[in-house]
Amino acid sequence: MIKKITPASSLKGELTLPPDKSISQRAAIFSLLHDGVSEVKNYSQAQDPQSTLSCVQQLGAEVKEQNGTLIIKGTGRKNIKTPDKDLDCGNSGTAMRLLSGVLVGAKISAKLVGDESLCGRTMTRIINPLEKMGAHILARNSAYAPLFINRYEPLKPLQFELPIPSAQLKSCVLLAGLFGEELTQVIEILPSRDHTERLLNLDQKVVQDRKIISASLADEIPNQSYTIPGDFSAAAFWLVAGAIQNDAEIKIGNVGLNPTRNALLDILDEMGADITIENERMEGAEPAGDIIVKGSDLKAIEIDPKMIPNCIDELPILSVAMLFAEGTSTISGAEELRHKETDRIMAMANMLNAVGANFEEKEDGLIIHGDPDFSFSSADFESYHDHRIAMAAAVLSLKGSKESSIKDAESAAVSYPGFWNDLEDLSTS
Ligand code: S3P
Repeated sequence: MIKKITPASSLKGELTLPPDKSISQRAAIFSLLHDGVSEVKNYSQAQDPQSTLSCVQQLGAEVKEQNGTLIIKGTGRKNIKTPDKDLDCGNSGTAMRLLSGVLVGAKISAKLVGDESLCGRTMTRIINPLEKMGAHILARNSAYAPLFINRYEPLKPLQFELPIPSAQLKSCVLLAGLFGEELTQVIEILPSRDHTERLLNLDQKVVQDRKIISASLADEIPNQSYTIPGDFSAAAFWLVAGAIQNDAEIKIGNVGLNPTRNALLDILDEMGADITIENERMEGAEPAGDIIVKGSDLKAIEIDPKMIPNCIDELPILSVAMLFAEGTSTISGAEELRHKETDRIMAMANMLNAVGANFEEKEDGLIIHGDPDFSFSSADFESYHDHRIAMAAAVLSLKGSKESSIKDAESAAVSYPGFWNDLEDLSTS
């Protein structure tokens, strides 16, 4: 689908975000592992969490919906079922990597499949540690999905120092470790999103700036009855859209404010954005609050590479903010972006090129020469079937002087099915 976007002269209103994608997927998987019933409120209707939900049903979870709440009867760790069909993870790297850990731990043989984008993303990062734990994994070209997962040998515990700051990799190893008599430990140097350790209440300690997270069969899997907060990564599009628009006031209710996810708030604050947080509270194990953003003058920023894991999904939309900020901004240490739903550095560079921006593409990021008065007429954007690229291009389109278009715009539904309606509701041309 090609989506046409009319420029906006103002952005005003209140909106409700889609529920957090990372937490929804974990809620489904951890409810399968819980030996009992979990009541998950506000589970995401987006494509990735729905793919995960069907996979956990194939693995034996019984799922019912009651007034918008999912009632999930788990199998516990001992009674996970061998699926009779392939487990289809769709576009979701989180589903494929976390479920691989569960299958290896539970000694379930299964085939994991995904769409073209997911089949192009390397799985080597999870294959290596899982094989050390006793798994046999057959992958296309030894690295890509479809993955055939088996384990014949006893599960071996692992002490695993993360070679990259990836929450999917961390969670995959910990989930396999949850099935072992002996302790598996993951050592994290740069903090990545910590939903898994929070929601499973895993033992964590910090030794010489390194976080050590432990998992074994002795850990009880807690009931996953909580309300999933709005997705901060979805809020990010409105935070930037509001910040770069002269006439803007957007209120976003119930946003997840996990500190390992929301580095964009600190970044935008340093850039001079007018953002207020109200009503901060806890939603189960996760912090949440309401955010109000108003238009303001932004200045350039150099992102500390250490912050990258805490804003990795927000970098495409951050590049749009940088384009309208006074001075030269840099994103570096972000080579992981080349391994997302698409090569996002390439996709961001093509998005910026489409409007004639002044920038340089680096192997691990971008240098963007911004200008608050930057203007363009219109552009035809490629989304590369990547939800975050489609939505970032949409926010950029609002700043043109004529109508722009976005190819394969339906990809937004991977994380944010209501995005195009919210965009229409907020903007006045
Ligand atoms: C996610 C972790 C991140 C993130 C992805 C969701 C998760 O990926 O980019 O959108 O739910 O654990 P990596 O772990 O590959 O960095």
